[in-house]
Amino acid sequence: MSVAPAVSAAPARTFPKDFFWGASSAAYQIEGATEEDGRGPSIWDTFAARGLIKDGSSARVACDHYHRFAEDIALMKQAGFTAYRFSLAWPRILPTGRGTVNPAGLAFYDRLVDALLQAGIRPMACLYHWDLPQALEDEGGWRNRAIAEAFADYARVAVARLGDRVQDWFTLNEPNVVAINGHGSADHAPGLRLGEQGVLTVLHHQNLAQGDAFRAMQAERSGLRFGTVCNLQPARPESDRPEDRAAAIRWDAVWNRVPLDGVLRGAVPDVLAESMRTIVQPGDLERIRFPIDLLGINYYSRMTMRHEPGRLFDVGWGDPHAERYTGMGWPVQPDGLYDLLLEFKQLYGNPAVFIAENGAAYDDVVSPDGAVHDPERVAFLRDHIREVGRALAAGCNVKGYLVWSLLDNFEWAEGLTKRFGIVRVDYDTLTRTPKDSYRWFAETIRTGHVA
Ligand code: BGC
Repeated sequence: MSVAPAVSAAPARTFPKDFFWGASSAAYQIEGATEEDGRGPSIWDTFAARGLIKDGSSARVACDHYHRFAEDIALMKQAGFTAYRFSLAWPRILPTGRGTVNPAGLAFYDRLVDALLQAGIRPMACLYHWDLPQALEDEGGWRNRAIAEAFADYARVAVARLGDRVQDWFTLNEPNVVAINGHGSADHAPGLRLGEQGVLTVLHHQNLAQGDAFRAMQAERSGLRFGTVCNLQPARPESDRPEDRAAAIRWDAVWNRVPLDGVLRGAVPDVLAESMRTIVQPGDLERIRFPIDLLGINYYSRMTMRHEPGRLFDVGWGDPHAERYTGMGWPVQPDGLYDLLLEFKQLYGNPAVFIAENGAAYDDVVSPDGAVHDPERVAFLRDHIREVGRALAAGCNVKGYLVWSLLDNFEWAEGLTKRFGIVRVDYDTLTRTPKDSYRWFAETIRTGHVA
């Protein structure tokens, strides 16, 4: 197969010397060892046990990163990574969500962080990438306002232990996905269909918990950098019909604006003010607003929306008419990343951001010589990184780019069927094989240039 033509028309770019490069990951998707060293059960273990993972797999072993992290960090170092965002497993640190701390859980992150620092890689820790302790779910999970206190306590425990070595702290990964997929469409844990009020409540409680966690971490230790990670997707109407345009505005508000306007402005989007009136209590917006240092932006594609009564917020998915699609069936739209960075700069005054996730799943094939030639992924990364370069040239305050992901991993409800890695993982032997995209990315980091 030859390299697919670029969709993006962006010209070649050279990146600043201090631009950081690396990958992102999530504990549940790579660690395995879900029943080891005192880790408690999470909502995803329960979801998998209910038979809701498409290929019937589970994350019990995943990439076995828990035992093989040294090998994985060696791969990062070899590729020239200067940063790595990983998540801490809440149920490893606090097996029942609050109260008793599990020393063995914290000890794992000690080892991981020390190894990263030794490799010269900046550790960027994310507190919540979806593996809520089941014990907290049993108390109502994100539906329960009291979760804010538990989250802030967990944040304090994590910073008290790792804050001497980890300077970059991120609270939530993609609160919109947690709310919509976990509590609206039920295709993610905890698998609920709460309706619009429930989804907005879950969004709001994540905002609240985040605000409390920032302050708890700040009180615990000074000199840290704080941020959060949002999955931003420009929402475009499928047609010019007024009802489709209104649908796109509504979806944009739920998906992109509640998290952003919350932390950056202490506000609720106008179109949702009425729906959220009974959810937001006096004082909440002050608690939610926080002067973050760095916003992580995850970008995969735009969203094409249309009016569809009966769906959540009366919004359905339209046809994006894209030229290319990834193995997830997602449209390949690199220029959407440029648009969103520019729009973000205009709307929020250009605070510092970085690309915290960007990448693609494809049905990789192992060649007879054992190599994995993944030209579509190379083209995907090249086209998107060029757009980041174009946004930088337009004055956007972008500090770094992290690929999703280093390793093929447990892709949530899709199980082990979707491969996002620039390194292949053989799930029988757990052997790691760098793909062509890994070498391409390493070369891009080395030269700081994308042709
Ligand atoms: C999530 C990852 C996920 C990736 C691909 C992001 O929304 O943060 O955990 O694997 O998308 O679906």
